[in-house]
Amino acid sequence: MWLSHGCVKAAASCVGRRLSRAVAGRRKKSHAASAFMPEAAGFLGVRDHGGLQEFSISQTESFWAAVARRRLEWITPFSDVLDYDMERGKVRWFQGGQLNVSVNCLDRHAHSNPDKVALIWERDEPGSEVKVTYRELLEMTCRAGNLLRRRSVKKGDCVTIYMPPCPLAVASMLACARVGAAHNVVFAGFSAEALAERIRDARSSTVITVNESVRGGKVTPLKSTVDAAVRNCPTVRQVFVVMRTDAPVAMTPKDVAMEEEMMSEDTVCEPVTMDSEDVLFLLYTSGSTGKPKGLVHTQAGYLLYTSLTHKYVFDYNDGDVFGCVADIGWITGHSYAVYGPLANGGTSVLFESTPVYPDPGRYWEMVERLKINQFYGAPTAIRLLLKYGDEWVRKYDRSSLKTLGSVGEPINTEAWEWYHTVVGEGRCPVVDTWWQTETGGICIAPRPSEPNAEIIPGMAMRPFFGIKPTLMDAEGKPVTSDDASGALCLAKPWPGMARSIHNDHQRFIDTYFKTYPGYFFTGDGAHCSKEGYYQITGRLDDVINVSGHRIGTAEIEDVVNQCSAVAESAVIGCSHPIKGQGVYAFVVLKQDAQNDDLTSQINNTVSSKIAKYACPDHIQFVQRLPKTRSGKIMRRVLRKVVERDVGDLGDLSTLDDPAAVQEIIQGHRDLCGN
Ligand code: WT7
Repeated sequence: MWLSHGCVKAAASCVGRRLSRAVAGRRKKSHAASAFMPEAAGFLGVRDHGGLQEFSISQTESFWAAVARRRLEWITPFSDVLDYDMERGKVRWFQGGQLNVSVNCLDRHAHSNPDKVALIWERDEPGSEVKVTYRELLEMTCRAGNLLRRRSVKKGDCVTIYMPPCPLAVASMLACARVGAAHNVVFAGFSAEALAERIRDARSSTVITVNESVRGGKVTPLKSTVDAAVRNCPTVRQVFVVMRTDAPVAMTPKDVAMEEEMMSEDTVCEPVTMDSEDVLFLLYTSGSTGKPKGLVHTQAGYLLYTSLTHKYVFDYNDGDVFGCVADIGWITGHSYAVYGPLANGGTSVLFESTPVYPDPGRYWEMVERLKINQFYGAPTAIRLLLKYGDEWVRKYDRSSLKTLGSVGEPINTEAWEWYHTVVGEGRCPVVDTWWQTETGGICIAPRPSEPNAEIIPGMAMRPFFGIKPTLMDAEGKPVTSDDASGALCLAKPWPGMARSIHNDHQRFIDTYFKTYPGYFFTGDGAHCSKEGYYQITGRLDDVINVSGHRIGTAEIEDVVNQCSAVAESAVIGCSHPIKGQGVYAFVVLKQDAQNDDLTSQINNTVSSKIAKYACPDHIQFVQRLPKTRSGKIMRRVLRKVVERDVGDLGDLSTLDDPAAVQEIIQGHRDLCGN
C-alpha cells in the first residue's frame, strides 16, 4: 500500500490527510552575453545584454531556435521555427518538432536529480508542509496518467481540474500532458454555474476535484459544487475525487476514488509524442463580453517561454526555492508555480492558504520556514499587509529572499516602496511583471536581460527577449515620439502567446488582431518614457481587475440583470484601497420590484452565478441610466461619476435625457459621501 513505500508515502500524503528609483545595482557592467545566458553562445557579434535583447528582436527566429534547442528535450527536432500571419491570428512555433511536456518537466530531472524537491506543498496549517521530490512527482504523474488512459482519456480530450493548489493537482495537469489530453483548470472559487459553463464550452469528458478544500481555516465542499455543475454537463462521463480531508463524500455512479485507483496503477507511463502546436491547455478568462473565453495554449512554445522568463526575470538559480503564491486556477499559477519552475528543474511552492491566515505574518513566516528565495505575489495582498504594519514582517527572518515579484495589476508606489524596503530590507529587487493570460508568460519586467539593471518603482520597465511593444495613438498609428502614451500592442509573435480561443477562432482574431492590423492588441494602455521604460496604465476595455482577478463588467451585468427585481444595470470599476479595483453597479429596478433586501439578492446572485470576488462593492439604485439617443449606455459618464470627476463630463450632446446624469451624481454623493 501507499503508506508503506517510502517514496510513495510522501506522494500519497500530498493528496490528502487520509493517505496521510531605487534599488541596488545601478552598476552597468558589460558581461559577455553568453556568460550570462548560455543559450546565447554562438550568437556572433552579441557582446552584452543590450546586444542580446536587440538580437532577440532583429533575429527573432535564430534567437528562439537556439534557446529551444538548448532548453527543451525534443523527441523530433523542429524543422520550422516560426510561421505566422498575425492578421489571421495564425501563429505556429517549432513546427515539425515533437516532445512531451511532462517529460521535460519531470523525467529529465527525475533522472539526473531524483531526490531534489520539486514541490513544497504549503498547506493551510502553517508548519504542515509536504515536500515532493522529482521522483515522487514523476511517479504520481505516471499513476494518474495510467488511470486517465485506462479510463479512456486520450489525445484530443479535455480534463477539467477543479482543485485547490496541491501536488495531485499538479500531477493531474502533467498527467494530461503525458497522455496528450488538454487540461482546463477552473479556479476553485468559481460557482457551480461558472464551472458548468466552462466544462460545457471545453466539452470535457472528465473532471478532477477534491472532496473539500481548506483555505484560511475554512472548509468548502468542492465536490458538491462539481455535482451541481455536472448535472448540466452532458459531456462529463466521470469525476475523479481526491480526499483532501477525512470528511466522507457522497459518490455517484460517475465518481471515481482517484487515490484508491491510482494505487493499483503502474509507476511507469509511456509519454505520448506531441507536436509542438498540439493543445496543452485551455484557460478561461474574462473579456469585454458576457461570455468567458477559453484561451488555447500549446506545447513547446508555451513551455519554452515560461522556462526562459522564470529563469531570467527572477534570476532563478539552481537550488533556489521559488515561491509563487498564486492559485493554480490562474495563469500565474500555471506558468510560475507549475510549468516554468518544473521545466527548469526548480523547487516550487504551492500555496494553499491566504496572506492573513492564521495572522498577517503568514507569508513571511513561510519565507523563513521554507527559505524562499524568490517571492512572487500580488499588489492587492501587499496593500492589505501594509495596513497591518511592519511588525508582522520584521518578526521573521527574510534573509533568504533575493527577488520580489509583483503581478496582476499596477503596483502603486506606496505598496512598491513597502515591499522593497520593509519586506525586502532594501536588498531585493522588486520586479513588477506585466503580462496576461493571453501572453502565457511575462512580457515586460524590470530586468529581463540585465541582472543589475536599474528599476524605477512601479514600472514594468523593459520588454523581455523577443518582445517588441508598440504604442498606438488615437488614429491607430504607432506612436513615434519619446515619452508618449498609447494602446499597448506587441508587434511580433512570441512563443508563449495563446494560439486561439477554443471554439471561436474568429473571436480571437476580432479581439486581438483586428483593432491594429499586424499587431497583437493587449487591451491595456501604457506610457513609454524617454529612456524606453514602460509603465502600464490600465485596461482600455470593459475589463476590470478586482484583487488581481480579471472580470468583464458585461459578465457581472448579465448576472445582475437576471435578478427578478432588476430592469437593467451598468457595472464599472471603481478604485478600491486594497483590491485595486472594486465593482460599482448602477441598477435600475422594475416598476413593481419588491423592496426587500435587494442588495443581498444581487450579491447572492453574483456569487452563485460567478464567484464571490465579482460581487459589487457598491450598488446605486437609479431611476434610469444615462443613454445616447440610440440607446447606448454612456459608460464614460458613469466612470466620471464614480471617479468624482464631474467637473467636465465631456461631450454630452448625444445624451438622451440630461436630467439622468444629475440624478446619478446626487445618488452617488448620497451613497459614498462627498
Ligand atoms: C491583465 C491580465 C498576468 C497574470 C495575472 C493576471 C493586468 C497584469 C500587471 C502589471 C499592471 C497588470 C493588465 C492585464 N496586469 N500584470 N504588472 N501591471 N497591470 O492575468 O487575469 O489575464 O489579467 O492584468 O491589465 O491586461 P489576467
